[in-house]
Order: sequence, then C-alpha cells, then structure tokens
Amino acid sequence: MKITYYGHSAFGLEMGGKNLLFDPFISPNPMAAEIDINKIPADYLLISHGHQDHVADAERIAKRTGAGVISSFEIFTWFNQMEIGGHPMNTGGKYTFDFGTVKAVSAIHSSVLPDGTYGANPMGFVIWNDEACFYYAGDTALTMDMKLIPMTCPKLDFAVLPIGDNFTMGYEDALIASDFIGCDTIIGVHFDTFGYIKIDHNEVLKAFAERGKKLILPSVGEVIQL
Ligand code: NI
Ligand code: MN
Repeated sequence: MKITYYGHSAFGLEMGGKNLLFDPFISPNPMAAEIDINKIPADYLLISHGHQDHVADAERIAKRTGAGVISSFEIFTWFNQMEIGGHPMNTGGKYTFDFGTVKAVSAIHSSVLPDGTYGANPMGFVIWNDEACFYYAGDTALTMDMKLIPMTCPKLDFAVLPIGDNFTMGYEDALIASDFIGCDTIIGVHFDTFGYIKIDHNEVLKAFAERGKKLILPSVGEVIQL
C-alpha cells in the first residue's frame, strides 16, 4: 500500500480502488507549502475530530472532489449543512463501505469545530479489507482501550500514531501503544508542525529501534510503501 504524507496528521492512500484522505490540514501548514490541495485525490475524507488542524481543507477538497465525510455524527452533520455528503459514525461502531470496513474506536482528546460547533467525541479508525488492515489513532492519549483493537479487529499491518507530545501522546507512550495494539510498524504523525510538538528525530527513532520496532517519520510529500 502506498501512503502519501501531506504533513501534520494528513495522509492519503488508495484502498479497494478508492482514495481515502485523512484529517486534511495542509494549506494553513507552512511545512506543507509545496503541496497543492487541488491535486489531492479523494473519494472519502476521514475526520478524527473537529479541531482546525484536522479539518482545515476538508470543505474545499470535498467540494472539488465530491468526497464524502466519514466522521462522528456531529461532524458529519456540520459538513452535511455545507451540502457535503458522507456517512455518520460513532465510537464502537463499524460499517462496511465499498473500499472496506471502518471501525470507529476511542480516542482520549477533545473535539470542537472551528466555528465553535460541538464536535462530539474524538475517534480513531481501524480500517480493513482483504488487502490490508491499519489503525489511524487520530489525536489521542495512550489509552487502555487500545488493547481492545487486537481483540476486535483483524491483525494490523501498520498504525499511524501521534507522537508529538503536549496535545497527544508522545513517543514513549506511542511505544506502549504499539504493544497494546500488537503492531510494530508505526508511522508517526502530529509532530514538528508547531513549537509545542517539535521532536528530536534521532532520539525518537532510536527509542523505537531499541525496542525492535519500525518507526517511519515521514517528510511532507513523502510516499511510503508498506
Ligand atoms: Ni486535536
Ligand atoms: Mn491535532
């Protein structure tokens, strides 16, 4: 599977012939200045929670591509009022789409939309079909609920975890998270974008390597082949 990193927590991939785009925060991100959001393909936008650094470009991309929003009922409804379609979910639920099955899982964080609208509970997603299974944690603390993922979902091929600390778990907790979810191939996101979440790449990479885990710290625009 080819995963394209668009900076912060934004990434896209193709699954079951559909383009999935996660948490598009690109045009306001100076680190992603070289990414042209008008060229990003999308059939579905998966939105973990309502914060600006996860929804900023969602409206524009959805209107250009006709992509539907998969998110909490409340965030889906907010986009639906802009005549953007999609599919409402809530944590604990799963639904099978034309590209695969999405399970909405717990995330410990907060969620309000940019205009102050209530964003309901934040969530992560476990997504699978016959080709692959992966977990995108969204913004979250380390939580014991992550232990439920291997009990309730197929074996993960990789996971996308926040590692920047301060607003989400840092890398030490992400290491424990990777034990909880039973997955040693991790793509780190939500780091370096703001001063509060700058990380020491060598220190973080070393900590994962010492535990025999593979951590990818993608650069903006990088295409990861997994
Ligand atoms: Ni957030
Ligand atoms: Mn965030």
